[in-house]
Amino acid sequence: MIKQAIIPLAGLGTRLLPLTSVFAKELLPINGRPGIEFILDECIEAGIKEVIFIISKKKEMIKKYFFNDSYYKKIIKKKNDIRIKNEYKKILKYKKMIKFVYQNKPLGTGDAVLKTKKFIRDKFFLMLLPDDLIIKKNCSKSMIKIHNKYQSSVMASMKVSKKSVSRWGIYKLGKKINKYNFNIKDVIEKPSVLKAPSNQAVIGRYILPKKIFSKLHNQKPGKGGEIHITDAIQSLINENNKFIAHNFSGKYLDCGSMNGYIKSNLEIAKL
Ligand code: G1P
Repeated sequence: MIKQAIIPLAGLGTRLLPLTSVFAKELLPINGRPGIEFILDECIEAGIKEVIFIISKKKEMIKKYFFNDSYYKKIIKKKNDIRIKNEYKKILKYKKMIKFVYQNKPLGTGDAVLKTKKFIRDKFFLMLLPDDLIIKKNCSKSMIKIHNKYQSSVMASMKVSKKSVSRWGIYKLGKKINKYNFNIKDVIEKPSVLKAPSNQAVIGRYILPKKIFSKLHNQKPGKGGEIHITDAIQSLINENNKFIAHNFSGKYLDCGSMNGYIKSNLEIAKL
């Protein structure tokens, strides 16, 4: 069973400047709620019991958002406001399931994952990238079902335009399992248009095996000098570990860029 999730939150959010110059992008409201709450709700609905946040000293406001009890208690004592009471209850529910680890240098997603090593108990865990919102259908829940059936790693997948492949991790797909699921032959981080084996992209939901930590330990920096989770996954594929690409049926929203963030607000307002 998949009971633990990890969420890398130490990113600087430069694509959302100036909004992120003093503010954590994951707390920016999307139609009135911090983006990270949508990600947490997806986890809860998928049966996740513990979420590990990978933050940095610069992103401590995320911790404060969930651990501001004395402030809420003071306000509630002064004003018996039912709305505030309910909001605090919601925060308490999230708080109970969150643990924090630190990644103070932005060395890449692979390095962020490595920081969670001592907390991961089971053979597999879920990772969600907070820039990637998927609405209308719970992608994590669908992926956990696939994992339970095939006992393998699973990653979210979506077709992107051919000219945008260098923005994504790109799959070389193998045998089709059914309409929505494929075996992954290879995965390459941000290839050039010429080198891309397809236009099937990695989206930020991963069910990863615990043994990925040993790969990350020895991994050299890749594209842009960062330690990429994609490269560690490729090493596991090379050793015949099974990875399935799941073409999810929900709607993808990119909250990590300014255009995407504005569009996400409009889309979520329509729900
Ligand atoms: C990360 C991954 C990339 C994936 C993307 C999905 O890239 O490295 O493989 O396609 O998330 O959003 P980033 O968005 O951090 O550049």
